Parts: sequence; structure tokens; C-alpha cells
Amino acid sequence: MSFLSTVRSRRSVRSFDGRALAESELQELLDFARTAENPYGIPLEWVILDTEKAGLSSPVIVGEKAYVTAKVPKVPHAEEAFGYSFERLVLFAAEKGIGTTWIAGTMDRKSFERAAEVKDGEIMPCVSPLGRAAKKMSLREIMMRKGISADSRFAFEKLFFRGSFETPLTADGAGDLADALEAVRWAPSACNYQPWRIVLADGAAYFYLKRNKGFGEGRLFDTQKIDIGIALCHFALAMEEAGRTVSLSLEDPGITAPDGEIFIASLKY
Ligand SMILES: Cc1cc2nc3c(=O)[nH]c(=O)nc-3n(C[C@H](O)[C@H](O)[C@H](O)COP(=O)(O)O)c2cc1C
Repeated sequence: MSFLSTVRSRRSVRSFDGRALAESELQELLDFARTAENPYGIPLEWVILDTEKAGLSSPVIVGEKAYVTAKVPKVPHAEEAFGYSFERLVLFAAEKGIGTTWIAGTMDRKSFERAAEVKDGEIMPCVSPLGRAAKKMSLREIMMRKGISADSRFAFEKLFFRGSFETPLTADGAGDLADALEAVRWAPSACNYQPWRIVLADGAAYFYLKRNKGFGEGRLFDTQKIDIGIALCHFALAMEEAGRTVSLSLEDPGITAPDGEIFIASLKY
């Protein structure tokens, strides 16, 4: 399957079939996760949790028997690094027909942190159930997807620009970067807010965060920076598939950001 088809066929799975994955399947996920590095070089410590043994649940998930999570040191860029590496696992699972859902909010965080033994100086921003999708979605899952328009995404021209934020980019105008940008467009994000904006200039894709109300400063971690980490991951993996290498830079290009977009990182190609 091409990278873009994996991205397009993945969706959050909130209704599972009630069967546990085989030990060998969980081990394969864990083995892959441990190789899923990020360009920040920040390590994640992965944990798989048995739902029943650890007494875990999420109000939006049914029929799950296991969760995966990861702990990361609370250092600058921990969120972007977490988003990048965790999404690699999410996409690997999707290729194997294993369902996941990024969860940052709809869980009893204390129980998960206890079960994952989160220590001082670490954060465990998100968890995901693991399993195979049930034949039918629960009513709650259907309603939830509707409520956040989970099956749609913003138009290309609203998210991507060339040279400056004044020049929106169309898929046709994006040339050989169209697939990588399309892969970003279909990435998952908290509340499906899609807070990424990208300006292409001088051989680099500059990633900006267009913040939604209720996120950001003063919280234990910045959920929308996780979203940007996911976007960086989609762009980089799509480019890699096309035989191109990208490299991360944190240098602010000084592009004027008229709507308060915050520069996060760039990928040079
Ligand atoms: C960082 C992050 C946090 C999320 N937190 C939750 C959550 O707490 N509960 C939930 O049901 N979905 C959560 N989601 C899933 C999004 O709602 C979902 O990815 C988005 O609506 C797009 O739908 P899709 O994943 O089916 O494409 C989260 C996604 C991300 C990336």
C-alpha cells in the first residue's frame, strides 16, 4: 500500500470487536515502536497496558482489551517528538489492520498515569486503544465523528502557502510536493482542528501552528504541538517514500504571520 493510501484509509477506531490481540501482535507493535525515532532525537518509553488488569477505560471507546502509551521527558519539543513517533506507530498499526485512536482528553488520566508508572520529569500526553474494529460503530462513535466532521478536512488552499501567507497553494500548484502535503492534510488532530499551516519557501516546508482557543500555555503539555509533530511525520514519511530525504531545522525564517501563526519547525528537502 502506498503511504498516502495508508494515511487515507486510517481512521480513529472507537468501537472494537472485544477480542484481545495476540501476544505476538502486541510484541510486533512494541518492537516497531522502539525503532520509531523522531528528528528531535527525544526518546519515548513505550508501554502496553492490559485494560482489565490495569482497570482502564475511556468513555468513548468500547470493546478494547489493550492500550498503548509512551512516556517522554518533559523537555523542549517533547510534544512534537511525541506526536511524530506515536504517529509512526499509529500508521504501522493501520497497515496491519489494527485500529487505534489518539486520546489526550477522554480518559481518566490519573489511572493511566499510575498504570504506566509516569515519574517526575516525564509526561504521558496520549494513549491509544489497540484492537480490531467492530463490524459496526457504536452510536456514540457515529455521533462523535459527525460532531467533529471527522471524515473531512480543510481545503488545500486554506492550509498551504508558497513564499508567504499571502499566496495560497493549490494541489495543482504544489507539483511534486502535492502528495506529501495531501498526507499532512489527512493527518489526525485533536478535535480535528487541523492547526497546521505550511509555507513552502527556499527548498523548505515551514510548519506553523494556528492555535485554537483552549490550548497552549499554562497546561502540562501543548496538545496542538503534538498535532504539528504528526504533520511533520506525515510530510517526512511521504517524502521518504518518494525517495527524498528531509532534515529538521528550528530556525525561524521570519516570514510574516498575519493571523498569529506560530513557527514550530521546518523540513528542508
Ligand atoms: C493529539 C490528539 C488528541 C486526541 N484526543 C482525542 C480524545 O481525547 N478523544 C477522542 O475520542 N479522540 C481524540 N483524538 C482523535 C481525533 O478526534 C481524530 O483524529 C479526528 O477527529 C480525525 O478523525 P480520524 O482520526 O478518524 O481521521 C485525538 C487526536 C489527536 C491527534
